[in-house]
Formats: sequence, C-alpha cells, structure tokens
Amino acid sequence: MLPRAIGEPVRVRHPRASCAVALARVSPYLARVSRWKVLVADDLAPEGVELLRNVAEVSTHKGMAEDELRAALVGTHALIVRSATKVTAASLEGADDLLVIGRAGIGVDNVDVAAATDHGIVVMNTPESGAVTTAEHAVAMMLSLARRIPAADRLLHEGRWEKKGLTGVEITGKTLGLIGLGRIGRVVADRSRGLKMRVLAYDPHVPEDRVPEGVVLVTLARCLSESDFVSIHVPLLDDTRHLLDRAAFAQMKHGSRLIHCARGGVVDEEALLEALERGQVAGAALDVFEKEPLDPDHPLLAHPNVVFTPHVGASTEEARRAVACDMAQQVVTCLDTGTVVNGINVPRIAPSQAGRLAPFLELAQGLGSFVVQAFGGEVSSVTVELQGETPQSAEEPLRLAAAVGALRGLGHVVTPVNALARAADRGVTVSSVQRLLKSEYVEMIRVEAAIDGVARSAAGVLFGRRRPRLVEFEGTPIDASLEGEMLVTVHHDQPGVIGRIGSLLGDAEVNISGMQIGLREGGREALGLLNLDTHPTPELLEQIATLPFVDSVFAVSLS
Ligand code: 3PG
Repeated sequence: MLPRAIGEPVRVRHPRASCAVALARVSPYLARVSRWKVLVADDLAPEGVELLRNVAEVSTHKGMAEDELRAALVGTHALIVRSATKVTAASLEGADDLLVIGRAGIGVDNVDVAAATDHGIVVMNTPESGAVTTAEHAVAMMLSLARRIPAADRLLHEGRWEKKGLTGVEITGKTLGLIGLGRIGRVVADRSRGLKMRVLAYDPHVPEDRVPEGVVLVTLARCLSESDFVSIHVPLLDDTRHLLDRAAFAQMKHGSRLIHCARGGVVDEEALLEALERGQVAGAALDVFEKEPLDPDHPLLAHPNVVFTPHVGASTEEARRAVACDMAQQVVTCLDTGTVVNGINVPRIAPSQAGRLAPFLELAQGLGSFVVQAFGGEVSSVTVELQGETPQSAEEPLRLAAAVGALRGLGHVVTPVNALARAADRGVTVSSVQRLLKSEYVEMIRVEAAIDGVARSAAGVLFGRRRPRLVEFEGTPIDASLEGEMLVTVHHDQPGVIGRIGSLLGDAEVNISGMQIGLREGGREALGLLNLDTHPTPELLEQIATLPFVDSVFAVSLS
C-alpha cells in the first residue's frame, strides 16, 4: 500500500545524526559547519596540533576541571585527550555538537565510554603508536629492578660509593611470564627472547596459532608459579581489575619480581605490599598506580625493593609524536569522511573495504529514513535485507546505518554508536537478513519497518557504485535519486497530473531537479518522486493534496 496521508517530513533533529561512524558520511553536516572546532585538552605534541590546524579551529587547554571541560565542549566537534583529562558523563552533558573523542594513547579508562556511546559520540584511541615505547619501558624497568640501578644512582647522587646491598640478579636464562600477549606484550616477548630469557605468556584471548615463536602459552597459575619475572600487559577492564590479588601473589614463585607498566588497578597494591614484606615477591617495578598521581605517603614508596616511574611508559619523543600525529589524522579523517579508524565503540570496518562501503551505508541510512518519514507512525521493528556480495559482507554496519536512518528525528541524537541502545529504549527491534538474488539488481538493500503494526518497505541500489537510487517503494518499482529534498505523490496515472504539480511548485519558486514516475503493476495508480532544491512548505503540500487525481503527497528530507 502506498501512503495516503500528507506527511510532514521528519526533520533531522541534530546535525550529529549525519556524522557517521562505522563510516557514514558527514558531508551534510559539513555544509553547515564553516570550520570544525577541535579542543585539545592535554599535552599533545605540536606536530599533531599543526596537522589539526590545517582543517580546524583548534583550542588547547590543559588541566581543565569537569565543569570547565563541560563549558568548553559546547560547540566543539572533536575532543582530544591523553590520560590526564577525565572525560566524565557530567562533562559530556550539553556537548551536543561533539562527534568524536580521540584518546591519544592506548588506555581509555579516563573516558566514560558508556556515556559517550549513549550520546552517540565516537571514541577512538591509538593502540599502535605507543606500543614499542611502552614495551621498551617494561624491559628497562625489568633490568633496573634486576640490577638495582635506581638505588645505586640515588646513593651516588648522595655522594656514597657503597656497593654493599647493590648485588643484582642476571636475567639470562630466567623465565619471564607475560600477562597479556597483545601489541605491547608481543614486543616485550621479542626483546626478552633477545636477552636470552625463556618466555611464557598467559592470554585467554590469543589462540595457539597466533602465539609468536619461542613463546609458550600457559595458564595464569603456571605463568605465576614458573616465572622469575612477571610483567603485566593487559588493559584495566572489569575482569582484569585486581587480577593480581592476594591469591595470585600467593601463587607466584618465591622471590620472583613484578613489572607493571600496564594500568593502575590491575594490581592490588595492598596485596603487593604484603607479598613484598613476606619476601614472596623480591621486588617490583611500577609505572602505574591505582590512584594517580601517587600519594606521597603511599606505603609502597617506603619499600626499598620497589622501583618507581610516574606513568611514563609511553613517554618517548618518538611515541609522543606518533601518538599525536596518528590521533590528529584519525580525527581529521573522521570529521572529513566519517571514517572511523581505531574506534572503540563502533563496529570495525577493514580499511580496504571502507571506500566501497561508504555509499552503501548512506543508502541503508537513506532507505531507513525514507520509509519512516513516509508513514510517520510508531516504529516497532526495522529489518534490513541485504542482497549481493558487498552489502552482505558488512551486515552489522549496514544494520546500524538503517537503524540510524529509521530512528533519527524520533527525539534523540542517533548515530551508529548508539543506534541499538536508542532502538532498545524505544522498544524497536533491529535485525538483518541476507537474501539470495531475487530482483534484477546484483547488490540491493531493502529496509522494512513495522510502522503502526504494518510492514512498510523501500529498496535501493547504487548507481555507478556511488549514487543512491530508490528502486522500489511499497512494492512499486521506481528509479529515482534518493537524496536531498524529495516530494512523493501517489496519484492516478493520467495526463496532466504531473504538469499541475509542477505548476504549483513553480508558482512557489521551488525548483525541481529530478523527476521519476513508477507504475503499480496492473493498476492505474502511479508513484511520483520529485527531487527538489528546497523543502516544500506545509501550505504547498496542502495545495498539491487538493489537486484532482492526487491521492496523497508527502515530503521527505534526507539533507
Ligand atoms: C597509554 O595508555 O597510552 C599510556 O598510559 C600513556 O598515557 P599518557 O597519555 O599519559 O602518556
């Protein structure tokens, strides 16, 4: 059934709805933004700031309190932080223009990712750029600990030539147990093998066939009980918080040493102190702490067998530059093209697929939006049907894109980041199905939405791999450009109707840029789709609706 009611277009409530994530495009948003505004809230290497200045108005403010950050985020499109600034839920209140938070570094525990996701804001990090530097720091800490270098240095600075008490241990032939065999753990494994250590690793996420040569994958218990040195390389997550607790320390080999350059909170510091006092752990080298900056009265500071650095694992000139430039480039790419690299809260799209997929995402979003705007009732489900190789290879991003299109304008900012959460809030189920070649189009997307309990649908394809075309609406074939401002009519298939619609549009000075007619099989009902330069007013829609032989008219805006 074609729509019967005069439909007011559902307006895009918020420009962010046009941003995209798993790749959708920001170009409609670009049209409204004369210059992107980027806030750099922590110390970012100047090379990164320069890169941003080429495309954006950049402000740099370090050490902002929560309320200062909240105020500064109003009207800001991208925020870049390192580990110092805490991006809390409260600081994001009112950040209605914020599209992306870039954590220049690895750990995102200073960003409330759940709150950002709820607001539809992309969170990204730079997992590669600081990995070698951090791994080198862990190795340096291991050697410092083994040879008591910081203590020796301190004594000499005090003018004391005292060798007693500075006897160390060799690392050659010793066993290193890595907890975490990700990007950093792998580099530590490689360097330590070069130092002639035996390397064990515990990582439940790494399959046997991805274990580097010379490293033995073991259980946590074995890793702890067989290692002379244990080095931690896992992020702080719910299941890694206090991974090294009293029970874990009790399992460690007596007299072993701990290196911790990962994230405060993974080690229970009270339990570590007890283990040091018992001699279970002979020494520890710590770069990260449960509370940072470390309290000057922290009891661990008084322990002679602990080596400290103030969370500088990622602080080398090379890493500072790499982290800054990588994040600046990621933010620029996201703002310019909608492509998200290293996103934490978006489905992953392989970079090699990105270019081919972007127009399909736009198509799915446009179809979702079109069908909901056409009927304008209560949406209870959205299903995206995918036909052909490319759409089927990106089921999740396309499902999200269709949901964004269908839900935008229904009261909340919706992006692929929060589309499923927003759908769940409204009781809308979102699903996808892959279908076999049924129509004449090799690659096609159909969005079906249950609106007021009735299944409604629109299908589309890409013309020349880029331009979205509507090829079917409510079972009626058509071939029309699916973009911008559109006027849709359902009218009797007879001479003069289109001419009279055109005259009314002309009188109202609304320019027509495209026009297509589709005919219902076996009937005298026609579907007209006119692409317009400007959005028609309700009065103009009313005039068209009262023309003879026009059954219904509605406007759709995909701008
Ligand atoms: C990281 O997660 O990248 C490191 O902890 C470094 O953080 P930083 O931004 O304080 O250098």
